[in-house]
Amino acid sequence: MNETVSIFGIEDIPLIKTGDDLPSIILTALKHNNQTLEDGDILVIAQTIVSKSLGRIQNLANINPSQEAHRIYEKITPLTKKSGLPIKSPELIQAILDESTQVLKAEHVLVVETHHGFVCANAGIDQSNVGGKDLITLLPLDSDEEAEKIRYSLQKLTGKKIALIISDSFGRAFRIGAVGVALGVSGINPILDKRGDKDLFGKELQSTIVGQIDNLASSAQLIMGEADEGLPAVIIRGYNFNFDDNATIKQILRKKELDLFREERNTESFEETLKSRRSYKFEFSNRIVNEALIKKCVDLARWAPSAHNGQFWRYIIMEQGNLRENLIENMNKRLKDDLIRDGKTEDFIQRKSEKTKSSFLSAPYLILLCLDTKELEKYSESERERNEYIMGVQSVSASATYLLLAFEIKGLAACWYCAPLFTKDIIKDTLNLPISFIPMAFFTVGYPIKESPKPNRKDLKDIIFKL
Ligand SMILES: Cc1cc2nc3c(=O)[nH]c(=O)nc-3n(C[C@H](O)[C@H](O)[C@H](O)COP(=O)(O)O)c2cc1C
Repeated sequence: MNETVSIFGIEDIPLIKTGDDLPSIILTALKHNNQTLEDGDILVIAQTIVSKSLGRIQNLANINPSQEAHRIYEKITPLTKKSGLPIKSPELIQAILDESTQVLKAEHVLVVETHHGFVCANAGIDQSNVGGKDLITLLPLDSDEEAEKIRYSLQKLTGKKIALIISDSFGRAFRIGAVGVALGVSGINPILDKRGDKDLFGKELQSTIVGQIDNLASSAQLIMGEADEGLPAVIIRGYNFNFDDNATIKQILRKKELDLFREERNTESFEETLKSRRSYKFEFSNRIVNEALIKKCVDLARWAPSAHNGQFWRYIIMEQGNLRENLIENMNKRLKDDLIRDGKTEDFIQRKSEKTKSSFLSAPYLILLCLDTKELEKYSESERERNEYIMGVQSVSASATYLLLAFEIKGLAACWYCAPLFTKDIIKDTLNLPISFIPMAFFTVGYPIKESPKPNRKDLKDIIFKL
C-alpha cells in the first residue's frame, strides 16, 4: 500500500549538450539543492535530455525529402492548416519517415509506428526544447539501454538502489491532451498484474493490469512541464514496488495481433492494398531500407498457402555489392547469347541488357526466390511428379504475392522479375546454392520516387464464367 508518494523535480539541471554525462550532472544538481537519492526512489528523466546527451539531434537543412515525403506533405498540409496545427515541412516528414516502420495515419496529424514499436505522432520527434530553428531531437535508439546505463551509474556513485524511467509525452487516441508515458525503463516492471488479487468486496480481479510506469511517468510530467526543460528529472519517492532487473519497455507494447483497432484498420484498408500494389519499374529513392523491414515482409510471406503445407519457398536477400554485380554480369552474358540466337539487333540487345543491369544493380535490395525441391513429394509416375512440381511453383508464387502485398503495406515498392527462370544454372553456380534450390524470381525492392501507372485489368465478364 502506498501511504504517501512524493514527487519533486531536480532543479538547476543545465542545458544538456551532446556527450554530457547525465548521471554526474544529476548528482551535482541534487547536491546543489541539498537533496540525495534514497533506496527505492524512482527517477524519471525526460527523453529530450537523454536524446541531447546522445547527440540524437538532426538539422532539417541536411535532410533530402523523398518523393514519398512530398506526397505526404501534399496530402496532409491542407488538413493540418484547417486544424490550425503547425505545418510540417517535407524535410520534417522525411525525418519522421526515417524513424518509422509504418505510417498509420497521414491526416491532420502523422501517426506512425517507430522502429521501437511505439505508436505516436511524428515518431516522437521534437522541435521544441532544442535550440536552432532547424534542429530536431529524435528518440533514443534504445531507451531501455540508456535507462539501464544511467541507473547503474547512479547506483554505483551513490550506493542507493533505485529504478529509472525515461519519459516523453504522447497524445492519445479517443482523448484530448498529451500525457506522460515511459519510453524506457530499468529496475521496475512496466506493468502491475493485479489479476488474481481481491477487490474491496473480496471478488477476484480477472483482467486488471495496471500500466505502472506510464502512471509514474505521467505523475512526473505534472511537475516536469512541457514548454521548457526546467525540470527534466523528477524523483518519485514512497511508491511501493518490487525491483525487477529484467524490465523492458517491450512488456508494455501491445502485440499487433491483439490490437483491435489496428486490426480493424487493416481489414478496412485491405481491399485498398490489393488494388494499390503496383510493379515498380523506376529508379528507387536513396532512402535507406531497413533490413529488418525486409525480413518482416518475408515473415508475412511465410503465411501464404502451400501444397500440403510444404512451404517450398526460400528467400535469398542480396544487398548491393560485388556478389550481386558478378551475378548480374553472368546473367547478362546469357541474356545476350539468347537474344543473339533470337536474331535481335545489336542495338536492341544493348538496350535490353543495360536496362536489366540497371534495374537489378541499383535496387537497394534484390531478393531471389527459390523453390526448394527437397520438400516436394516423390512419386513413381512422371505425370504425378510433374504435377507435384507445378504445385511447388504455385505455392512459391502464392508466397511471392504475399511478399509483394507486404511490401505495399510497409510503403516499399517492388517488382517481380522472371529473369532467374532463364538463368537457373548461372545463379546456382555464382551463388553456390544447394542442388535442390530452383531459382524462380527476382524482386527489386526499395522506396519509390514516383507513382507507377495503373495497368488496366480485364473485365470481370471476361474472366468469370457461370455454368
Ligand atoms: C510471374 C511474373 C513474372 C514477371 N516478370 C517480369 C519481368 O521479367 N519484367 C518486368 O518488367 N515485369 C515483370 N513482371 C511484372 C508484370 O509486368 C506486372 O505484374 C504486370 O504488368 C501488371 O502490373 P502490376 O503488377 O503493376 O499490376 C512479372 C510478373 C509476374 C507475376
